[in-house]
Amino acid sequence: MRGDLFPLWQVDRQEYALACRHLGVEPVDALYERLVRHLAAAPFANPPPTGLARQLARPPLSAFRLARLDQASRWFFPGHPVRHLLNAALALHECHGPSYRALSRTVTGPAVWGAMAGWGLRHLAGAAVTLPWLAMRAAAWLLARPFAREADLRGRQVLITGVGRGLGRDLMLECLERGAAVVGTVRTPDAARALAAELPAAAPLRLLAADLAQPGALAAALRGSGVDPQALQMAVLCAGTKHAGADALDPATVRDTVQVNLLAGVELAQWFTGDGAGGAPGPAPDRRGAEPRRLVVVSSIGRWHGMHGSGGYNASKAALSIWAESAEMDLQRRAPGVFGVTVVEPGLFASGMVQSGGAVRGLLAPRRRVAAAILDGAAAGRRAIRPPWWFAALTWGVLLGGRRLRAYLFGRVKPPAPPA
Ligand SMILES: NC(=O)c1ccc[n+]([C@@H]2O[C@H](COP(=O)([O-])OP(=O)(O)OC[C@H]3O[C@@H](n4cnc5c(N)ncnc54)[C@H](OP(=O)(O)O)[C@@H]3O)[C@@H](O)[C@H]2O)c1
Repeated sequence: MRGDLFPLWQVDRQEYALACRHLGVEPVDALYERLVRHLAAAPFANPPPTGLARQLARPPLSAFRLARLDQASRWFFPGHPVRHLLNAALALHECHGPSYRALSRTVTGPAVWGAMAGWGLRHLAGAAVTLPWLAMRAAAWLLARPFAREADLRGRQVLITGVGRGLGRDLMLECLERGAAVVGTVRTPDAARALAAELPAAAPLRLLAADLAQPGALAAALRGSGVDPQALQMAVLCAGTKHAGADALDPATVRDTVQVNLLAGVELAQWFTGDGAGGAPGPAPDRRGAEPRRLVVVSSIGRWHGMHGSGGYNASKAALSIWAESAEMDLQRRAPGVFGVTVVEPGLFASGMVQSGGAVRGLLAPRRRVAAAILDGAAAGRRAIRPPWWFAALTWGVLLGGRRLRAYLFGRVKPPAPPA
């Protein structure tokens, strides 16, 4: 199992080594593997940390932070991920012969008094550092709070297409880490089995298989799944395709791109806003006071301009963004206040869709952060999300320069493929 599925709870090898040093034991590879599996199940056995505790769990661990968090979590945050880490690491090492011997090594005789005095002084000195550190962290968290609202997804159900890799996978992991149950789609049953094997059995995840390039396949999979669309708070169309290097004048690749990127979205929206069986939506349930159920479509900032060698990708995303706006208007007329639509137009992030070499590397946003921004924005009811903001600003700046400048700049950033 990977050690980076749920960053709030899991640790990489370096952080594990720090935890070992903190506990006074040597790192052991086999124990790290067991620790990874144990911590990967933590989001499903414990309530997600909230508020300041969550903020403290976010940055990577250093020896200094670990020592502070060890003390702070003992005093104020008993369920904190760092307590889970230290308790689990200690338990594993206590069952390992050499580590157990290291842990049980102790002084005897008169040296006990010196050892106890040293222990007391170390704790006092630690507290003298930890308390001001914690006060500063709390002040920073309070100041940043109005600008950084993180969506609480506990008890929510979210559907996401394309969870096998890329952004869809990060959206799924972020939802699971935040306490939501996920219905995810992948292309084939084999892909569903492979993904399920990568995740803890306790993860509240249901996987469906549908090849979105086949017209009607997504609608059929959703209808046949028995999932009640009305139990879902959010449906995210994330799966998308790009025929890299394909000519915009090639009908086959353009047709395939439009099917996956646009028409599969129409199938998803019809099911999500309908009665689940493919029929017309029944009478809108009484949802007074309930927040709108949200359709989220992942378009692209590329929808604002053309691009060589994308085989209709940018056109399909332009159509998706505009279609989503129309869908929102139709849904408002049909059932006012019941549905909301969020259009996401991200900049570049590393994925199977982007060659991350050369100049492009400096333009990539951290993908997990893009996923978090999408969930936060959608849960807050935003209609358009363009993470990161600076990439959208850059794109709009380039757009002002006109088509010739765009062709020149895009040609430099993404050199055209040589003719076949
Ligand atoms: N990467 C970027 O910089 C960027 C920028 C703006 C917008 N986006 C959008 O972000 C979304 C996610 O893309 P990504 O960047 O994460 O790319 P990715 O790594 O290539 O992932 C694409 C996902 O879509 C799925 N998919 C593609 N064709 C499918 C089909 N016919 N049937 C079922 N599933 C299919 C893939 O499943 P398989 O594993 O089976 O292929 C995969 O899960 C896309 O809508 C993309 O347009 C990406």
